[in-house]
Amino acid sequence: MNSGLRVDPVLSSLERRANELGAYLYVLLRLLELECAWLIQVTNLSVKAKFAGDIGAYATVIQRLQRRRWELVSDEHLPSAHHEVELSIASIASRSDISDIVSSVLNVQRCLVDALRADLSSLEFYDEPSRGVIGDAINILHERWTIWAAEHQQDSEQFSLESLHSRNGTVRYSDQLATPRLPRMPGRPASFRFSDDPILRHKGELDLVTDDDCMRRFLHFIALDIEVCAAEVCAQNVVEHRQMPIDFRIDMARQISDEMRHFELIAGILEYFEGYVGQYPYSATVFFRSALGRSLEERLAIQQIIQEGNAIESNIQIATLLQKVGYDTFAAAFEFINADEVNHVSFGNKWLQELCGTNSSVYMGIIRAASERVGAFPGSRGIAEKVRRHAGFPDEFFLEYLKE
Ligand SMILES: [Fe+2]
Ligand SMILES: [Fe+2]
Repeated sequence: MNSGLRVDPVLSSLERRANELGAYLYVLLRLLELECAWLIQVTNLSVKAKFAGDIGAYATVIQRLQRRRWELVSDEHLPSAHHEVELSIASIASRSDISDIVSSVLNVQRCLVDALRADLSSLEFYDEPSRGVIGDAINILHERWTIWAAEHQQDSEQFSLESLHSRNGTVRYSDQLATPRLPRMPGRPASFRFSDDPILRHKGELDLVTDDDCMRRFLHFIALDIEVCAAEVCAQNVVEHRQMPIDFRIDMARQISDEMRHFELIAGILEYFEGYVGQYPYSATVFFRSALGRSLEERLAIQQIIQEGNAIESNIQIATLLQKVGYDTFAAAFEFINADEVNHVSFGNKWLQELCGTNSSVYMGIIRAASERVGAFPGSRGIAEKVRRHAGFPDEFFLEYLKE
């Protein structure tokens, strides 16, 4: 007979630990998607870069926590946290003032580090692997907190994670939880001018190294209209496609942090040529092109596979040119940027192929449709076959686009 008493199932120590790691995962996944939305909104480029740095750091921690959780209980369930934690996160999600947002980020990071530290001291020797994961998480998150805290004020009102590990009244992570609204236009400083007219002036690549104005315009275009927009496109993928696996967010997050780092690198080279970001108008073309994609599949094809795919050959040519004229450090920067780009193209190929299934004609159909939609086609600067194979293009791609 049913006694009417609610009896909580007994949890094994492994499940308990997995749940605790899951609660951290929950907060980090929520922070990740919130910061993706703010990254698109915010107008200040250095704050945008800080969000990107956080996003990359969270992804590293999420990946390790997720792996450890799987080792403990092979649990495929989405993580959960106490509903009060979600209430606090949802209240932050509704903030619109950037200094309030930043102080909230500082607060949550601080609370997370404190909670992780308290956990670390209670972990037994038999759970050494979780100890390693939590120790790394503390270092990574504390470093992010330090970067923000150097320039920003923390709220006096403390975000509380006291109930984080409570098992009663938990909320499971889902794609329905509150996130900030995404703007149609990505944020840019008010002093920057928007224009549809192309700013590039070089006729051939040689113009770049013989005419500093051509070089400045080229670097400005890559930094602001390609790199920053690429980060924003990926951030939008994270916020709008939360039904995708956590691994998809991890890849997008890695790309976001890479793209903003590329922005900072190229802005540094622009300064060497006596230019500065904001000197020329911006177009945000890459952001709007991606918006032409009618599905996540098309967005991946437009951004990662067609545009970034073509950037592979373009970067090889630029690095070669820079090396030829003695700009060895800048050439090396472009080579390393290209290694990241190849990785981004491989994310596009991996997820598009995942979404399309094993039938490569579906994959090719998406590439063709996406190319038509944006008027850009794979291989406009040739096809570096070996590198592109490394980036995961299937045989059918080379049959169609590799011309003799
Ligand atoms: Fe990039
Ligand atoms: Fe990229």
